[in-house]
Amino acid sequence: MTTDNPAITEEFLIPFEWPGSYYIGEEEIEAVNKVLLARSPYRFYGHDLQHYADKVENYFKERLGRKYAVLVNSGTGALSTAMMAADVGPGDEVLLPGYFWVACLSAVIRCGGIPRLVEIDDTFTMDPDDLERKITPRTKAVLLVHMSGACGNVERIVEICKRHNVLLIEDTAQANGASFHGKPLGSFGDLGIYSFQYNKNITAGEGGMVVASDDMLGKRAWAYHDVGYTRNEAGRVDTTGPVKTWGQCTHMSEVSAALLYAQTQKLDLITATMRARNQQLYAGLSQIPGAKPRRLVDPAGDSGPFVLMTYPTAEIAQKLVEMTRAAGVRPGPRGASNIRMTDWGLHIYYNNVSLVEKQGVNSAGRPWSDPLNEFAKDYQYGKGLLPQMDDLIERSVMMTVPPALTPETCDRIIEIYQDCAAKLGLK
Ligand SMILES: Cc1ncc(COP(=O)(O)O)c(C=O)c1O
Repeated sequence: MTTDNPAITEEFLIPFEWPGSYYIGEEEIEAVNKVLLARSPYRFYGHDLQHYADKVENYFKERLGRKYAVLVNSGTGALSTAMMAADVGPGDEVLLPGYFWVACLSAVIRCGGIPRLVEIDDTFTMDPDDLERKITPRTKAVLLVHMSGACGNVERIVEICKRHNVLLIEDTAQANGASFHGKPLGSFGDLGIYSFQYNKNITAGEGGMVVASDDMLGKRAWAYHDVGYTRNEAGRVDTTGPVKTWGQCTHMSEVSAALLYAQTQKLDLITATMRARNQQLYAGLSQIPGAKPRRLVDPAGDSGPFVLMTYPTAEIAQKLVEMTRAAGVRPGPRGASNIRMTDWGLHIYYNNVSLVEKQGVNSAGRPWSDPLNEFAKDYQYGKGLLPQMDDLIERSVMMTVPPALTPETCDRIIEIYQDCAAKLGLK
């Protein structure tokens, strides 16, 4: 990249690489080729079906200790499927943290339910104290989003949901391969969802999955992702089965599933590599006076794709970002890394214009205009709704940790950060 600003170096220290795609190699090519050579890209029948979708589902069922795993064609679709399986609709609230991805909101809203936002704490995930304050008889489900690769107080949140008899849905889109004291994230809640989109820990290009253990939830998830019914042993749609509803046909194709199956075999290698780099960065950046790393309740269970650091003030965070970016701590022009968290688009509740303006999904303004949602008529979603989160993210900086980042580059990033902090007089 050329630039007119002499302070901006040519160097991009953070590789513009995503975890899963960086590892695409012979195994992925061979698997996809098998599907193409068999001319069988559809999961339910074909000339010579390779059964990759079944293989991926079985892999995750075993890994997560779940009875049901349903592959879908995006994480957004997985969230919608989970909300429908949980029977979220008009009159219901779903509690979710204010640090998320837009799909977490839209899944609730498209079902006709109302999102209610909960604070995050220094784990950058849902604050259990605020959750406890906000649970009411209207709460149909809690959506616990394991943001930026790791969990927060998952055990306490499981306990709160159980005590209040509320369904817990885990969004593990950003934390595939992460765990809490050895138990995989996505295996704690009544339902769990994953994403296999391009920038995730492993990828199918686009893809997602819903997991469950309860029979009715698992079967409902299947029916909503399919044509509205479960299937029999022979794989035929069964209109006499326990679920009769309306589906979305959001299956994953065998081509994507083949790519994904090869990636599943690399998941632990990818997360271990990112975790090693992320621990190196956390150790170095924590030496900066006043700097605080994200609180990790189980550092060994972090899947590793992000480093989140908090500084004493928003001004310091801003200056550090500007100075370190000018010295090369940034990805190529298309990437987002080494940015203040306030600048991280639709991950931050108040950046979601459709939420702040309470836009509906149709011209009738549903779900906001639904009489069953009258209780939410005065809800506001603008900045200031979650003061604890607002303060935390104003002072925090997000850096991506692709596995292509070398230990030497991590050292260089730490050196630049420490140097800039010294120039700012941090002590
Ligand atoms: C936390 C979270 N949930 C859900 C999704 C949606 O996944 P997808 O992009 O596969 O639709 C994402 C994607 O970025 C995400 O980060």
